[in-house]
Amino acid sequence: MTSADELMTRAGRCLANTYARFPVVLERGEGCRVWDVEGKEYLDFVAGIAVCALGHCHPAVVRAIQDQAAKLLHVSNLYYIEPQIRLAGLLCEHSFADRVFFCNSGAEANEAAIKLARKHAKEHGGAERIEIITMEGGFHGRTIAALTATAQAKYQKGFEPLLPGFRYVPFDDLRAVEAAVGAHTAAILVEPIQGEGGIRVPSEGYLHGLRKLCDTTGALLIFDEVQTGVGRTGRLFAYEHWGVEPDIMVLAKALGGGLPIGAMLATEAVAASFTPGTHAATFGGNPLVTAAAWATLTTILEENLARRAAPMGGKLMDALRSVQQAHPGVKAIRGLGLLVGMELDREVRPVLARCLDRGLLLSGAGEKVIRFAPPLIVDEHEVKRAVDILDTVLGEGTA
Ligand SMILES: Cc1ncc(COP(=O)(O)O)c(C=O)c1O
Repeated sequence: MTSADELMTRAGRCLANTYARFPVVLERGEGCRVWDVEGKEYLDFVAGIAVCALGHCHPAVVRAIQDQAAKLLHVSNLYYIEPQIRLAGLLCEHSFADRVFFCNSGAEANEAAIKLARKHAKEHGGAERIEIITMEGGFHGRTIAALTATAQAKYQKGFEPLLPGFRYVPFDDLRAVEAAVGAHTAAILVEPIQGEGGIRVPSEGYLHGLRKLCDTTGALLIFDEVQTGVGRTGRLFAYEHWGVEPDIMVLAKALGGGLPIGAMLATEAVAASFTPGTHAATFGGNPLVTAAAWATLTTILEENLARRAAPMGGKLMDALRSVQQAHPGVKAIRGLGLLVGMELDREVRPVLARCLDRGLLLSGAGEKVIRFAPPLIVDEHEVKRAVDILDTVLGEGTA
């Protein structure tokens, strides 16, 4: 067996240096636990960053992948395939949407949304309607359009020139959007809850206000639910909390149960601007990923895991609030369902590293926020264990 040290040394020589990885080599997983190549067990509250909603190697997902792999792995979108049609139908049945375009990631789903919004605006609002408004602190992905939509200098620095046609306003500030929106606005693109920006939940009337502004100006409302979607916040889609429906929604992460898939969902009227030849993805919605996604979504729906995430997230937040009382360095606890953030008065990276040493995987959301995004199947004991480990680490004071 190759040792972890040897593997990490080799990685240092041949992998692009784009990730600040923790010094651990993971090998297998089951439920909410993963093991490294040396056999050490970890409780996984990262879940591939809100990807593994059903935990690791859920039997329904594994079976769907095995069955589909033995039947048909890939054909071109020049032809119809049943798993893709089934999945699109299920997504439409359980959302505001009438039509789905499949791709491979969150960034790509945002690309599709931006292209559709621009095309729709040209066809319905004229040549002047070109601007897309996005929110400061938002995150939409790393391709050049998604990066331009991501109004955070730290991600954009060095990659200029960015795309024209974007305008940034502060998050959760309706007045600022009101001042920016007009006949030139093609769309407003927003995460219902900012994920990478530090788990920020907007005020009560914010999304309603955005909907109203779009309705009065003719702009489209796009929700990026790549991180919040597919059950994470206690509803299948976060927009359900506020009863505000978008014109376009983008999904990825949890949808594939661990396989890479992105999706852009839209109403009939908006989707009509995509016609044959206007957009495509070779691998988009291929048989394997859509079979896995269908098994994932069906399991989440049948086992009511979205609804379950609300009380379980409540327990997690209660426990974290107790930790907050004991540690003055904890500034805030916020979130919805099983997407929870703990803001510290300092950088979280050393805390995450100490948690890793003690067998708990956690990730940051920005420099000063610890993100909790465990699988939706997490149980009370696992929540308690994770919070106990964090409590201990914070108590050590050296983190
Ligand atoms: C809200 C949101 N949108 C888009 C993305 C980009 O997704 P991907 O990494 O699959 O391109 C992310 C990734 O974290 C995200 O959180």
